[in-house]
Amino acid sequence: MGRALAATTLVTPLGPGPLRGPGAAEVLELRPGAVAWDASGTITYVGPPEGLPAEDPEWFEGCTISPGFVDCHTHLPFVGWRADEFEARLAGTTYRDQAGGGGIRRSARLLAEASDEEVLAFSRPLLAEMLAHGTTALELKTGYGGSVQGELRQARLARRLAAEAPQACRVTLLAAHAVPEGMTREDWVRAACEELIPAAAAEGLADAVDVYVEDIAFSIADLEAVAAAAASAGLPLRCHADQLGPSGAAEAAAALGARSADHLNHVSEAGIAALGAGTTAAVLLPTSTMLLRATPPPVDALLAAGAVAALATDCNPGTSAVASMPEAIAVGCALYGLTPNEALLAATANAARVLDLDRTHGRLAPGAEADLLVLEGDGFRHVPYRPGHDPVVRTIVGGEVVWGR
Ligand code: NIG
Ligand code: FE
Repeated sequence: MGRALAATTLVTPLGPGPLRGPGAAEVLELRPGAVAWDASGTITYVGPPEGLPAEDPEWFEGCTISPGFVDCHTHLPFVGWRADEFEARLAGTTYRDQAGGGGIRRSARLLAEASDEEVLAFSRPLLAEMLAHGTTALELKTGYGGSVQGELRQARLARRLAAEAPQACRVTLLAAHAVPEGMTREDWVRAACEELIPAAAAEGLADAVDVYVEDIAFSIADLEAVAAAAASAGLPLRCHADQLGPSGAAEAAAALGARSADHLNHVSEAGIAALGAGTTAAVLLPTSTMLLRATPPPVDALLAAGAVAALATDCNPGTSAVASMPEAIAVGCALYGLTPNEALLAATANAARVLDLDRTHGRLAPGAEADLLVLEGDGFRHVPYRPGHDPVVRTIVGGEVVWGR
């Protein structure tokens, strides 16, 4: 293949993330548009086709070129599904009720029982599914390790997947997700801070540290303790915040300078104000809201306050068995009220910011990585308009076609 594409439409955020506030969702839309890149996979040109240097572009009539999607919140690698829990919730149980051997601890047991090869064999097709749905960069997380050694093992498996995947991957140590069986919360937080985080950092296994703050999980004091350990290890903080109920986690995460506060279904007024004023991104996870049949977050208020909004799948076996960013974008628009351009920005430039990939990913511009998509339809609005339809005609990573039909 040549190193230039042209299509009826090209869309891209105008600048690198973070993009926020009035006018943030203004995107560059060229009709027609073209992009070219060099042999090293770096974009050299974005503009009208007639301005292309030398190269004759491959032409996609009726299609849209966009940056690759950045899925900035997933729980891969994991092994095993929990569809029975989804069905039980539809019959009246709640996610909070993790009794009876279900929930996060169940995924931890499944991970502990599986061999490394079994975990990789389960996770690989999900990364391939992501590629086919346009995800060119993503986060992998631990949190199902169930012990210090188990967490380190899951982080090593994440690094192995990252090494073989075409996508750019970042690994987050979800050091506080569920209290391991047979331990108290205090003991686990101490082990996470004193053993797990330093060991993961020393081995180069993590790019960030995450905490699940919830009345059924960890407290704000635990978040502060983990934040201190992460800071000593030189790792940025992320936080599962206000998902099932209000806990003050969003404002606490913002006060700690966290890279992101994720979920936010029950974010408080103070949390909205803190995310609007600070640099902590608001990561929206609409498919987990949909599948838990939960209350959506106050997205309009977050955007009006000036929050940096990112969008991700939360791909995990408990609350969001979704690997498709087009699906997250569709639900983000239909359930959260994002405009297609706001969703585009949240799924690219701002998501790249969350993963510290904003210099190279999340937009089409000279100097950025040639990670791009050819999408069906003559505008980005076609992606949320047809939920359940796979709009990706071609996925290109580093200038190479890695998926196409
Ligand atoms: O982001 N709620 C916390 N963590 C995940 C779910 C993990 C699980 O149920 O396995 C989430 O929704
Ligand atoms: Fe999550």
